Amino acid sequence: MTRLIVAGTGLIGHRHLAHIDAHPALTLAGIIDPDPNRRTHDSAPGFADIDAVDVPCDGLVIATPTETHAPLAIAAMERGWDVLVEKPLAETRDAAQRIIDAAERTGRKVLVGHHRRHHPRVEALQKLIAEGELGQPVGASLMWYMRKPDEYFDIGWRAGMNGAPVKQNLIHDVDMLCWLFGDVDEVVGIGGNPVRGAARTEHGGAVLRFASGVIVSIAFADTTPTPWGFEAGTGESPAIPHTKQDSLRIACTGGAVEFPSLTVWSGAASWNEAPQARQLDVSEAVPLVRQLEHFADVIAGRASPRVSARDGLRALDVTLKIEAATLPKGVSI
Ligand SMILES: NC(=O)c1ccc[n+]([C@@H]2O[C@H](COP(=O)([O-])OP(=O)(O)OC[C@H]3O[C@@H](n4cnc5c(N)ncnc54)[C@H](O)[C@@H]3O)[C@@H](O)[C@H]2O)c1
Repeated sequence: MTRLIVAGTGLIGHRHLAHIDAHPALTLAGIIDPDPNRRTHDSAPGFADIDAVDVPCDGLVIATPTETHAPLAIAAMERGWDVLVEKPLAETRDAAQRIIDAAERTGRKVLVGHHRRHHPRVEALQKLIAEGELGQPVGASLMWYMRKPDEYFDIGWRAGMNGAPVKQNLIHDVDMLCWLFGDVDEVVGIGGNPVRGAARTEHGGAVLRFASGVIVSIAFADTTPTPWGFEAGTGESPAIPHTKQDSLRIACTGGAVEFPSLTVWSGAASWNEAPQARQLDVSEAVPLVRQLEHFADVIAGRASPRVSARDGLRALDVTLKIEAATLPKGVSI
């Protein structure tokens, strides 16, 4: 049994908690949350902060507001625990680097919660691109057009830039794109806030150039209830209805692929030939559960983190560049 403590039982933390509770190989050793109503549990003890924890633990799942990730992760590693840190790894590059330094100093392991890399459809996409069956990737087009309910922004830390869809949502897409295409060497963008008018980016477009030469355009908004976005297309979140619509198209020299349907187009040597479509067959699984199982493997030394702290810093770095490039007029970070 792997003994896990969950810090923060809000929107994402309570999902981690429920998955740990239901898993036969994981034990919920405790809950840390300053809100007394959010740390009550039938069998696990609750603690107001990490210093109060007096039970044995193998790993800490950090699902707290982003600015608390670095202090909690560092304190946990200094106590000898490995950490699964929700995305973004930290609020700033410096804070992310402090987590990396603490991991090196303490010899503990950091897994970053870019759980999409544990989604079977993302795994299949990554394998398809990496194996080169479609030739060299040239470009891609990604959409994330969702509408968050207005109450989402009532929670203080989400009201400003930390609640914008860039650091909250696109960071997942950025990590996935980096897993597919490698490092990003240039970012341009444009953004605005004409619907809610709050001091954060609400929609925009960004173009990323990868060192490998791939150029990806990203269009995003959190003010429009379309069927196009990772969560809606994959049905990955229980709170977001499953539309099964594609939101990512990747063009390669030997064909193309649409995601998440995993419709693969190939067989045409030029525009004078009709490409043929087929669909990859993938079995479904819950990525957050697979991520927890992977965390248990990392703790036990059976695996290296699939999303390392350096991967987390890379995704954060690109995301902060998108954030800077898409700031609405009059809004500062
Ligand atoms: N992987 C994903 O898909 C996903 C989804 C949502 C949020 N997140 C990330 O998870 C983090 C939390 O987001 P959320 O929307 O669940 O937040 P939330 O505001 O809904 O919940 C945060 C919880 O943390 C508690 N908390 C605050 N400070 C704490 C501390 N120092 N120690 C312990 N608990 C503390 C709060 O009382 C609250 O219960 C953010 O970094 C966010 O970016 C990831």
